[in-house]
Amino acid sequence: MNAKNTDFGTFAQDVMLGLNSKPKTLPSKYFYDAKGDKLFQDIMALPEYYLTRKEYEILEGQHKGILARILAQQQPFNLVELGAGDGLKTKILLRFLIKNKIQFSYYPVDFSGSVLEELEQGLAEELPELEVIPIQSTYRDSLKAQIWENGRPNLILFLGANLGNFGVEEAKNIVDHLRVGTKKGDQVLVGLDLKKAPQTILDAYHDAQGVTREFNLNLLDRINRELGGDFDRESFVHWPSYDPVSGECRSHLVSKKSQLVTIDALSQTFEFEAYECIFTEISKKYSFSEISALASSGGFQVIENFTDSEGYFSDVLWEKS
Ligand code: AVI
Repeated sequence: MNAKNTDFGTFAQDVMLGLNSKPKTLPSKYFYDAKGDKLFQDIMALPEYYLTRKEYEILEGQHKGILARILAQQQPFNLVELGAGDGLKTKILLRFLIKNKIQFSYYPVDFSGSVLEELEQGLAEELPELEVIPIQSTYRDSLKAQIWENGRPNLILFLGANLGNFGVEEAKNIVDHLRVGTKKGDQVLVGLDLKKAPQTILDAYHDAQGVTREFNLNLLDRINRELGGDFDRESFVHWPSYDPVSGECRSHLVSKKSQLVTIDALSQTFEFEAYECIFTEISKKYSFSEISALASSGGFQVIENFTDSEGYFSDVLWEKS
């Protein structure tokens, strides 16, 4: 999850498209510049943000069960990770596989070259015997190219509820890319946040310390910094809302007053009415039946839902039929 290396033209174009839309919108992938990466690290340590801790608990406590099916094939395999990031949770699986002398290659995929470099360096120090083949790419492009495909079984990791940051149709499109990018018998481990008490979900995106507010407002700061905008961050309010029917937690920036914002790089001035919103992020929460439907849409069968002790989060193992 990192758009650090995004070229100026694409960023400018996406901002122009988003702010000219009705309702106004900005893509959440632009949260992740150097400051946004740091803020996201802070979010993951917040008491309200349970997602990371729950997924860690699942991988720590159930990695043997998760890997049992791929290991039963008793042949070398490829471990591909979409959106590898710092690999903190994946290292639980990597350490176990190395310790048990399992033959496999690790293909971390990330959009950010610097994130991949850091990950590779850290792994070279901690697990020097591990074969790492980093791929700097988007999820979709890497699934189209499948540079890991060599006839061996593949286990594709898509952790961290990253699929939740796509709307329903886009998530189906990603699953369709997974369908095209895998062969019969390949497995996918998808980390998804589950539907639960609405207040628990809302609190995770509206923390008491205001870190998520900073994370959201950083989008405006980034536009000011990189595109010569004059957003006044204090005149926007961070406003997440959760709809328990759709399971969508949606984040907005609400303009506190009627105002004009000019972005030099776009040579355009944007008008905001009082209380007009910019939609910035979707974080979709799933039910088990929705997860099964999503799996079937890509020709996958759910093998097992691995959940934490409170049933907050699930790492779901799918197999290509
Ligand atoms: C990266 N992603 C899964 C996070 C989420 O929970 O949607 C990003 C995030 N946004 C606000 N807090 C965390």
